[in-house]
Amino acid sequence: MSNPSLLILAGDGIGPEVMAEVKRIIDWFGANRGLTFDVSENLVGGCAYDAHGTPLTDATMAKAQEVDAVLLGAVGGPKYDSLDFGVKPERGLLRLRKEMDLYANLRPAQCFDALADFSSLKKDVVAGLDIMIVRELTSGVYFGEPRGIVKEGNERVGINTQRYTESEIARVARSAFELARRRNNKVCSMEKANVMESGVLWREVVTEVHQAEYQDVQLSHMYADAGAMQLTRAPKQFDVIVTDNLFGDLLSDLAAMLTGSLGMLPSASLGAPMANGRPKALYEPVHGSAPDIAGQGKANPIACILSFAMALRYSFDKGDEAARLERAVEDVLADGLRTADLMGPEGGSPVSTTGMGDAILAKLDAGL
Ligand code: NAD
Ligand code: IPM
Ligand code: MN
Repeated sequence: MSNPSLLILAGDGIGPEVMAEVKRIIDWFGANRGLTFDVSENLVGGCAYDAHGTPLTDATMAKAQEVDAVLLGAVGGPKYDSLDFGVKPERGLLRLRKEMDLYANLRPAQCFDALADFSSLKKDVVAGLDIMIVRELTSGVYFGEPRGIVKEGNERVGINTQRYTESEIARVARSAFELARRRNNKVCSMEKANVMESGVLWREVVTEVHQAEYQDVQLSHMYADAGAMQLTRAPKQFDVIVTDNLFGDLLSDLAAMLTGSLGMLPSASLGAPMANGRPKALYEPVHGSAPDIAGQGKANPIACILSFAMALRYSFDKGDEAARLERAVEDVLADGLRTADLMGPEGGSPVSTTGMGDAILAKLDAGL
């Protein structure tokens, strides 16, 4: 049988820096665990625009459709802020999500014991936190039509449209219920059914899917604004949260800070099963290209490394190897190793991106 295939799209800013550590880890699994991947690499985002005048070429898009999984670093940066909307770096990522139909974006927020003191919230509020945000990723206001900036009389009007079909809501709801069955069996669905018709439909469809197929799972509903409040007040009340594209974007950055840093949060974007039964998949950290620290060797590679662990689990059925990698990360943090984003106001001496990679590799070696 041929090796499983991976397409690496490191992107812009800190993307290539954090991905360099993931590549070393991929090599480690090849050398030590007999897990060899056929790895190819290409450009996405601003670097693709610089090279080809587009943030994602058709050839890279086609390759992404073909491989077993895509690993992405981050896209964007101030250099590209004034580009036309259609060729902005972020459009490359949105095209990948849309054309691969990656409708379920899993964003786990786990607070490692060693970092419980570091969160901006009190330790007892976050210690032991383990929640999963399931963000709808291919529809909603990100993609709804009409959109644009149009002239109305003497002024310009900016337009975006929130739009959800029943089937789009039902399929992401199923993803959330399925995950909950393998976790603590609770789903909280978040929308704004009090002000948005799309929210009313969201609540109805989630309830219908629950009634018809998942009565064994405990379902609750919350308005997304109250959900944000509850996530900071008592985040451990949640197990799986399912929500739309925009609310999920906001709530997952919020959840990141419960774990200590945006540099900690991985994600998996999953679509329908391919011929081999595995879902179409793209794995990427929740954070962006962090232009403020790019090129300085300061970025925390853990979010990207944990995204590869999610790939091992969800695309390659290697939950035990994923756990091995997660344990190595946990052990390094328990030893007190910190990148700069994990330093408190009192400071200390942070390790570099590569230093963190070295330490995780050393733990992997030690665990053999
Ligand atoms: P950001 O996530 O890039 O950065 C926010 C803050 O978090 C910054 O202070 C940054 O230094 C810090 N940070 C983020 N990741 C870190 C890491 N791994 N280690 C240490 N610190 C880290 O968000 P932003 O500044 O709002 O956006 C910058 C650019 O990234 C924009 O162009 C935006 O569109 C893009 N973006 C891309 C993605 C993606 O590719 N998936 C996600 C979010 C933002
Ligand atoms: C994310 C990012 C993206 C989003 C951008 C870069 C398109 O913020 O992945 O969270 O808004 O979805
Ligand atoms: Mn975001």
